Amino acid sequence: MFNSLIETFINYFGGSSEGIRVFKAPGRVNLIGEHTDYNGGFVFPAALTMCTTVLARPRSDRKINLIATDLKQMVNADLDNLDQYKSLKWGNYQLGVADELQKAGYPLCGCDLLYEDKVPLGSGLSSSAAIEIATALALVSLGYTANGTDREIDMTELALISQKAEHNYVGVKCGIMDQFASAMGKKDMAIFLDCRDLSYELVPLKMNDYKLIISNTNKKRSLGEGKYNERRRECEEGVSMLQKALPGITYLREVSVQDFLKHGNLLTDEVIKKRVKHVVYENERVIESVTALKNNDLITFGKLMNQSHDSLRDLYETTGKELDTLVDEARKIDGVLGSRMTGAGFGGCTVSLVHNDSIEKFIKQVGEEYKKRIGYSPSFYISEIGDGGREEV
Ligand code: GLA
Repeated sequence: MFNSLIETFINYFGGSSEGIRVFKAPGRVNLIGEHTDYNGGFVFPAALTMCTTVLARPRSDRKINLIATDLKQMVNADLDNLDQYKSLKWGNYQLGVADELQKAGYPLCGCDLLYEDKVPLGSGLSSSAAIEIATALALVSLGYTANGTDREIDMTELALISQKAEHNYVGVKCGIMDQFASAMGKKDMAIFLDCRDLSYELVPLKMNDYKLIISNTNKKRSLGEGKYNERRRECEEGVSMLQKALPGITYLREVSVQDFLKHGNLLTDEVIKKRVKHVVYENERVIESVTALKNNDLITFGKLMNQSHDSLRDLYETTGKELDTLVDEARKIDGVLGSRMTGAGFGGCTVSLVHNDSIEKFIKQVGEEYKKRIGYSPSFYISEIGDGGREEV
């Protein structure tokens, strides 16, 4: 199955297939619960079958060499000097993970790594988390073998370390949702995750005659990262304004709808008020969505998806014309129960709940109308829900 990748690996790094191990970690789609994770709130993502695959082989020195199937230039790094690679355009996620793993006390060994990325980059489907988790798993597995450790790998810890890499190495102050979903996903299950204490429940995705269709705006994200950190700061400001009445809170997650209605007047800045309102109600929508899905009530779930998008458009302001156009066109089609942006926003993808009989029409009509209105075509994927990070044996 991995023959051609093994061949590519040997072309770059020499030797034979002996000692090459294969690791995979997926992207994710978030069903609902957007921009709630860094507020200590609830999210409801599922891992996709689209993955980053890493072929890895230990070396006897302390070098770490990285290449990807779609890149020409190899990155050669030194495990004992990982501070110097932060500005790399490609390779910084991987080396950031290596750096944080070592800081957390993991014994790493030198290695050669070949990447194949099947999660569309910058699309809001967590291509970066897929790279991070696949890297973390490969580095820790090789390190444990080299050191004769037979400790079980703690995937939640790898998720937290990967998140740290993104904060400290890449500079995006992301929440834990993406890394957690990529590490802990299960086939045909969504993860109802409480981001305050990382307790979670796997909820079977029974979609009856419906499918989750992902539509990619194909808009290249640029300002996204800056705006992302800005939203996070606005939420923190909201917390400090509300602390005057609710001194015990540290996260917006601890603000209920009732609290918001009672103390919303403390949010004297209109923008901050809108951000807080989104987070407070979005957390409620996650809980309601989990119940709806458990009751096989796709109609209610679809309505909640729509409300989530509208709130992200009007209150949190993370959509933009491309995402709004996709959602707008999707909702015009009979057989679509709900449609919303997924991930950070500012471009990226939407997820829509579409009846099997309407999928063809959906792809044709949304595709054509989007092209007319935006000027270029979107892409579509039927989400298949797969397992989280793993070694292929
Ligand atoms: C990005 C971040 C996540 C989360 C989403 C928005 O994907 O990496 O932590 O905040 O945006 O829900």
